[in-house]
Amino acid sequence: MTEKHFIPKAYKNSAEKGSYTWSSPSNIALVKYWGKKENQIPANPSISFTLNHCKTTTKLSFSKKENDDEFSFDVFLDDEKKDDFKPKIETFFNRIEKYLPFLKDYHFKIETANTFPHSSGIASSASGMSALALCLMSIEQALVPEITNEHFIQKASFLARLGSGSACRSLEGDLVVWGKHDQIEGSSDLFGVKYPFEVHQNFKNYKDTILLVDKGEKQVSSTVGHNLMHDHPFAKKRFKQAHENLSTLINVFKTGDIKTFIEIVESEALTLHAMMMTSMPYFILMKPNTLEIINKIWGFRQKTDSNICFTLDAGANVHVLYPENEAENVLEFIKNELVVFCQKGEYINDKIGFGAEINL
Ligand code: PMV
Repeated sequence: MTEKHFIPKAYKNSAEKGSYTWSSPSNIALVKYWGKKENQIPANPSISFTLNHCKTTTKLSFSKKENDDEFSFDVFLDDEKKDDFKPKIETFFNRIEKYLPFLKDYHFKIETANTFPHSSGIASSASGMSALALCLMSIEQALVPEITNEHFIQKASFLARLGSGSACRSLEGDLVVWGKHDQIEGSSDLFGVKYPFEVHQNFKNYKDTILLVDKGEKQVSSTVGHNLMHDHPFAKKRFKQAHENLSTLINVFKTGDIKTFIEIVESEALTLHAMMMTSMPYFILMKPNTLEIINKIWGFRQKTDSNICFTLDAGANVHVLYPENEAENVLEFIKNELVVFCQKGEYINDKIGFGAEINL
C-alpha cells in the first residue's frame, strides 16, 4: 500500500455544515519511535500501550464558505481562543490537503479540551492530532458514506501521523504497532495497526502512573529530537535494536514473561535518552528527581520482587508501569516514596485503554 491509497475519488455527496466530536487517548511507547525519514515515515517500528484516562476531546464544527483559496479556522482550548495553536494546525492542513481535498471549502471551529492538565509536561499532540484526524474523517464519511470502518480508522491514523508521528498510535486498540516489522503482518510505516497476536493475561489492564516531575514545556521539541538522529553515530544500530526488541516483545506478550518485558521497556527508555545525550547538540532531559525515582523503583523491585518498572518520554516525567494485581502495593509505594519527587506532588493514575470514541 502507498500514500495514493488515501487520495479520495471526487466526492459525490455534499455537506453544508455540521459538527463532530471525538475523544482520543494519549499513548505510551514501549519500543520507542525516535528518528524519521521524509513525510513522517518512522526510522524504526514502535509499539505502545493506549492510555485510558489521558484523553483529548475535540469538537470540529464546519460550515461551507464562499471562496476556497485558503484554510480558515479558529482554535479554542477550554473555551479560550488559542491563536498560538494555529501554525501547527496550518502545517497539518497543508500536509493533509492532498488527502482531504475539502479542507479549503469550509470554515472550521476547533474546540478542544484535555483530561490532563495542559501544563503537565504530558504531550497532547498524540491525543490532539488523532482526535482532530477522526473529526475530519467523519466529515469525509459524510461526503463518501460508503467508506468502510477499516478505511475510516486506517486513514484517520494515516492523517494523524502527518500531524504528529506517535498520534497514529492513538486510534484503536490497547497495544498498537506503527512501522513495518517483518514478523507483524499488516504493520505499516503509513499508519498504526492493532497488535495482531496473543496477549497474555498478565498484560491485561496494565497500570501506568505518570509522575509529573517537570510540568514545564518540553526542553527539546520532538521535531528537533527526531532530526538529531540523522547524522547520529549510533543511529543504525539503534534502529536495528528497535526491530529486535519488538521481536522479543512478541514472545513476551504471548508467554506473559514480565521479567523480560521490564528489561526491554526500561532499556528502551534509557536508550531514547542515551540517543539524546550522544547527539550533537546533546541534551539531558532527565531531572535529578527522574533519577531519584528510577533508583527507588529499582530498590523496591529488588526488595519486594515486584514487577514494577518505568518508562520515559522525551522529558523528565516518569511513567510507572505495573500489573493490575500489584496495584494496591505499588500505589502505596508511590504515595509513600515517589510522590515527594513530583512537582507539587502531582501524578496521574492511568491504565491501558482501548482507543478513541465518537461523542454524538
Ligand atoms: O510523535 P512525536 O513526533 O512527538 O514523537 C514522539 C516520540 C516519543 O514520544 C519520544 C516516543 C514514542 O514512540 O512515542
